[in-house]
Amino acid sequence: MTQDAPRKVVILGQGYVGLPVSMRAVEAGFDVVGFDVAKDKVDRLRSGHTYIDDIASEDIAEALATGRFLPTDDPADLAEFDVAVISVPTPLRDGAPDLSYIEKATDCIAPYVRAGCCVILESTTYPGTTEEIVVPRLEEVSALRAGADFQVGFSPERINPGDPLYGLKNTPKIVSGVDQESLDAVAEFFGHLVDTVVPVTGTREAELAKLLENTFRHVNIALVNELAMYCHELGIDVWSVIDAAASKPFGFMKFTPGPGVGGHCLPIDPSYLSWQVRRTLGRNFRFVEIANDVNDHMPDYVVTRATANLNTARKAVNGSTILLIGLAYKANSGDARESPAIAVAHRLADLGASLRAVDPLIPTDHVPAGIEIVDCTETEVAGADLVIVLTDHRVVDWELLERHADKVLDTRNKLRNPAVDRL
Ligand SMILES: NC(=O)c1ccc[n+]([C@@H]2O[C@H](COP(=O)([O-])OP(=O)(O)OC[C@H]3O[C@@H](n4cnc5c(N)ncnc54)[C@H](O)[C@@H]3O)[C@@H](O)[C@H]2O)c1
Repeated sequence: MTQDAPRKVVILGQGYVGLPVSMRAVEAGFDVVGFDVAKDKVDRLRSGHTYIDDIASEDIAEALATGRFLPTDDPADLAEFDVAVISVPTPLRDGAPDLSYIEKATDCIAPYVRAGCCVILESTTYPGTTEEIVVPRLEEVSALRAGADFQVGFSPERINPGDPLYGLKNTPKIVSGVDQESLDAVAEFFGHLVDTVVPVTGTREAELAKLLENTFRHVNIALVNELAMYCHELGIDVWSVIDAAASKPFGFMKFTPGPGVGGHCLPIDPSYLSWQVRRTLGRNFRFVEIANDVNDHMPDYVVTRATANLNTARKAVNGSTILLIGLAYKANSGDARESPAIAVAHRLADLGASLRAVDPLIPTDHVPAGIEIVDCTETEVAGADLVIVLTDHRVVDWELLERHADKVLDTRNKLRNPAVDRL
């Protein structure tokens, strides 16, 4: 860090995004205040315990040991900050963006805004949020002007939980500001945390870039999901089709089908975009609508396939014991938010199935009532009428499942045995 680099950094929101940023900022030499309104999270951090897959308890203990990491829920600890990063949730409420968390976090930091400080929004949101929601609230309370007196910018997070290759440091980070000085300040700060910053002119462009990234993924997953459903009816192996197409070294990017999309990003972010287009232009963003339609339908489709599979063995879903492999929304993560596996579980439970599930990563208090978490053992697999692979965690005993292939519905193409019923 350079001599005149800002020293006190406050990160509002210590979740999947904010906590890794806090850890990295401590590592880079900053004094870091990890502020969160959830007291239980703050208590866990204070006692050196993690609640995020990608951050180990040892990382938190090390950060605390430097004396430069202060987890807190007391807004007074935000005083005299040099850089504030807002990493709070941006969910949907009744299908519309819910910016209340951003508003509250902005109001929390506003009293401490002073000349020369820098406020950076990291939460994913629709274009215009930084300048229309964050800036006016900061200016009103501080009686200072964004750009002229203090800096404001937007820098979307690209963290990919569970990714062994790309972490915060080696993933290029988009930075933007309300003016050139703000852009420079945001780029300067994140330049200490990541290998590459990507300056973008304008906060709206940076906000939309993040939505484009996730909408691109959402639409392409919908494309292969729809293809998978048609391929099944046509008697064509969709996985071979995709692998064959992916041998093209240019102009094709591989996406794979699955039981639907989950997490905090794909089921939500594209709807921020379509909501804004509808509100501002009065038109539908058709690609997003279609992608939502297809991806939202996938849990139902999996249940239809499960029903057909049991039917072949002259069994009904009602009364069957179904073993679900994986409840998290993606492999090697314990994150069950918006998980399509949970949607499948709810639908099967409604139809009268008795559900057991193997997922060593998901916290027990995130497991819906009525699902018993079990180990992946010979007895469990043999005792199930049907096994459905929903999440392909590395830690699962895949060889054991191969041995029982004739009763497995695999939505992730994880098993090789030809007797497996693949999506
Ligand atoms: N999880 C991901 O993989 C990911 C990736 C890229 C971007 N994002 C985006 O980053 C943002 C944060 O997502 P997340 O996954 O970290 O959410 P999260 O729920 O894991 O964490 C958000 C944290 O903010 C806290 N919080 C809420 N209101 C607050 C306030 N007023 N002040 C301080 N803390 C407050 C919550 O208690 C929670 O701990 C969202 O906009 C999300 O879309 C998430």
